[in-house]
Parts: sequence; structure tokens; C-alpha cells
Amino acid sequence: MIFSTISDLRTHLLPLRISQKIGFVPTMGALHAGHLALVEEALRQNEIVVVSIFVNPIQFNNPEDLAKYPRTLENDATLLYQISDKILIFAPNEKEMYAQKTQIAFQFGALEQVMEGKFRKGHFSGVATVVSRLFHIVMPDNAYFGQKDWQQCCVIKQMVDDLMFPLQLHFLPTLREITGLAMSSRNTRLSAQARTDAKCVYEGLLLVKNYILNNIGKENHILEKGQETGLNFYKSTKFEVEYLEIYQKFSLIPMPSKDYMTDIPMGVCVAGYMEGVRLIDNIMV
Ligand code: PAF
Repeated sequence: MIFSTISDLRTHLLPLRISQKIGFVPTMGALHAGHLALVEEALRQNEIVVVSIFVNPIQFNNPEDLAKYPRTLENDATLLYQISDKILIFAPNEKEMYAQKTQIAFQFGALEQVMEGKFRKGHFSGVATVVSRLFHIVMPDNAYFGQKDWQQCCVIKQMVDDLMFPLQLHFLPTLREITGLAMSSRNTRLSAQARTDAKCVYEGLLLVKNYILNNIGKENHILEKGQETGLNFYKSTKFEVEYLEIYQKFSLIPMPSKDYMTDIPMGVCVAGYMEGVRLIDNIMV
């Protein structure tokens, strides 16, 4: 069933939520196996699963990226119904979601001063606005997100904690193409050659991870050396690096190299452009 209005979806869910658990997978469509894995997990843990498909304009800081974002509702619905004909799709248009223009801006402090927050001003306020609206519309018991957007996971966790949304968050591992390239709706905008070449993004991350692990306890400037190694690696490919950084996994505080001696979980995060398409990825150490 596809719902395009908030009131229709709310009316449908109202009697069901009394006795059944609702799982929610927010997406911007152009679904791939990574999204479908979230949906399958949601189906295992809930009686009802809602998938939203909405390309949220206020989280894009680049109008060209917004215009080119793939919109494939019919195909998305087919993919979802192949898994289960019980899935409820919520596909509102912009007027429906933003009938009331938001006056509230979200701020996430240190969590958004790095990586995507630094390079895409206002991005996380846009994400938090739409996700909080969607949470109020769907009122799910469980919500599912992919770890490819790790900073987004951290920001949403902060929002859920701060605003006391009564729901459980689930962050699922990144699914990769056979080459190692992280699955992303944006991959469809790459030429076949670039899609193969883009394997360098994951290879670079593995290389930095390996470098860090093999040098723990031996070297004082692993961060610098790790970055240098990674960046040199990317330089030899067609991937234009925007950032390659090493952070504490949950606080997103940059790792000073002396702290590599500790057990603090770390994430190596990368963003950059391939054929003008922005790709991000990360790996945990
Ligand atoms: O990760 C995404 O696809 C989007 O940022 C989300 C969470 C659906 C909000 O628009």
C-alpha cells in the first residue's frame, strides 16, 4: 500500500499500533540491497513495516545534487513488494512534508563540526527536521539506519535521546558491491568504469585501517601517516578526496595520534568525488 498523505497514513496506523509493533525505514528512494537489508531486519522484528521514500530538499546544500538525485518510486515499490506485500510505503511530496515551513534549526555541537557537517552546512539540521517529522508521523517502535552514514547515525541518536522519542534505533552494517564499493543510491550516477574504479574508496579505508593497526604502540604520528598513506593512495586514482579523517567512533572527536595506544573504538571516514558524484564511506577500527 502506498500512502501519499500524512493523514491517510496516520489513520491507517492508529488502530494497528495498539497491538502491533511498527518498524520504520526512512529512505530517499532509489532503493538498493543496503536498504532492503534494513527492511528485512525491520520485518523480522516488527509486525508492521513502514518505508518512507522522500528526497528531502532541505538536507541538500548543492542544488545540482538534489536535482540529479535518482527518483524511482515505481521500481522501489516493486522491490519492496517482492520482499513482502505487507510493507507500507509512505511517499509524500514536498508540499505535504513542508506545508508548514520549519522555523526550528537543529544544532548538534561537536557531532556536526566535522566531516559532513563541516562540508555540507545545514545538512544535519535538514536531516533531523525530516526524520523528527517522520518519527512523529509514523510513531515507530523501531527505526533502522545504515552505518554507511555513520555521522548521521550519531546525530540521530543524539536527537532521539535529547527529544526523548520513545523508540529503539538500529544501525546496520554497510552492504558493499562485489568490488567493495559501499552501496549507495548515488552509485547509479557513476559510469560502469567509475563504478569499478570507485572500489578504491574501500581499498583506501582498508589500507589506512591496516596501517593504524600495524603501527599501534610503535609510532607516534599514526594519524598523520595514516592520512598521508590514504591520501597518496587516492591520489593515484580518479577519486578526489574531500576529507579522510580518524575519529572516536561515538563522540566523533578527532583522534590525537597518542590515543591510538588506547582501546577507544575509532572510525576512519572518507568523502570525495568520482565523476562529480559525492561518495562517502567509513570503516571501524
Ligand atoms: O539516509 C538517508 O537516506 C536520509 O538522510 C534520510 C535519513 C532518509 C533523511 O532524509
